[in-house]
Amino acid sequence: EFIASTDFFFRPVNTYTGPDGLLYIIDMNRGIIQESNWTRKGTFLRGKIDYFNIANVNQRGRIWRLVHDDFTPGPKPHMLDVPAADLVQYLDHPNGWWRDNAQKQLILLDDKAVVPALQDMATGRKNASALGRLHALWTLEGLNAIDKPVLLTALSDADPQMRKAAIWISERYLHQQDTGMITRVGQLANDANYDVKTQVLLSLGANKHPLAQQITQELLAKNPDNEMLKRVRFSLDRNEDAKKYGMKLGSFPAPERKLILAGSEIYKGMCSPCHGSDGMGLPTNAAPALKGAKHVNHDRDFAIRILLHGLKGPIEGKTYPSEMASMKDNSDEWIASVLSYIRYEFVGTSARGVKGRQSAVVQPEEVRKVREAYTSAREAWTIDELEKNILK
Ligand code: HEC
Repeated sequence: EFIASTDFFFRPVNTYTGPDGLLYIIDMNRGIIQESNWTRKGTFLRGKIDYFNIANVNQRGRIWRLVHDDFTPGPKPHMLDVPAADLVQYLDHPNGWWRDNAQKQLILLDDKAVVPALQDMATGRKNASALGRLHALWTLEGLNAIDKPVLLTALSDADPQMRKAAIWISERYLHQQDTGMITRVGQLANDANYDVKTQVLLSLGANKHPLAQQITQELLAKNPDNEMLKRVRFSLDRNEDAKKYGMKLGSFPAPERKLILAGSEIYKGMCSPCHGSDGMGLPTNAAPALKGAKHVNHDRDFAIRILLHGLKGPIEGKTYPSEMASMKDNSDEWIASVLSYIRYEFVGTSARGVKGRQSAVVQPEEVRKVREAYTSAREAWTIDELEKNILK
């Protein structure tokens, strides 16, 4: 914390390094920045806002430039007025503003005459920092002027970020199942740097070429404890699954998806005659709708108990001609499957994607535990009993 202000309305909301190398601070300079919901009439905040009369302090935004005593500001850029050839040198500028904007302008100008100079910089024939080489490489990529000799040199660069970028850019060859390039990229699976290894997996992991698959399998086998690599593999598989099964079902891990799919078959045969194939119940009112059934969503043990022991008596004030029979003669897996399916299909509970969010899937193990807690002679539950028992 190096900056403070006596101005009551100082609201620094962002900072940037400018072309002159100085720090620019964006000051929203406004009375209140608060959602109206929390500043309504009668709220504590509204009282303070009115007391200090700050609601109409607005339209005062400003930009500060912070100058250090020991620093001489750099020159003003003229990038829009110079030919492409003059821009190449800035790709190696110590200030990122110059590097980024030179790269952008070079690609917009699309002047292929600078390609040899870029190649010299990217391959280190002309002395340049690692960042300079990296910008030159990506500028070549942006100009669609990448070729194999440049890429092969970059794949052997001393800087790991260069090797990583080179693998990434080599995807244009990898996609064409170029065996030579797959082999060369595969050699970096043993790179000392984990960013490089991760990029090998990202670039080859979804490639169907047997060599690519072998390389990524070995890479994972050699690094069994690396969480990053495991997550990448998981995401790649999930993308494949999403293509095959659709986004919703594809986002479940394979074993859970198996339970849901098996459950949908059971449901079609065993449950839809009363609950309807769409879970909306039937015109005959044989059974309640499962779609959106609040308890089924709320507590997984609730539904497990109903399937194991049955359910009788009114639900939400409604009485049905028959009761829900016990399904206890079926295996834990069977019950887990059909419950996973109805929670997935009708209740809309999702995969365990978001941390802490309950998965739609009920595991056989959970069914076993509930089964063991009761004698097999236990009679059907009523909703009242269930609510008292588990839905505290
Ligand atoms: C013979 C008709 C019938 C069949 C077949 C049937 N059910 Fe039911 N189900 C009912 C009835 C009736 C109720 C309501 C019982 C009551 O009134 O308490 C019910 C209730 C339920 C409930 C509780 C709903 C809520 O609102 O809390 C669940 C969950 C359920 N059934 C799941 C299943 C599953 C899963 C299957 C297939 C394995 C299945 N049912 C097969 C008739 C049936």
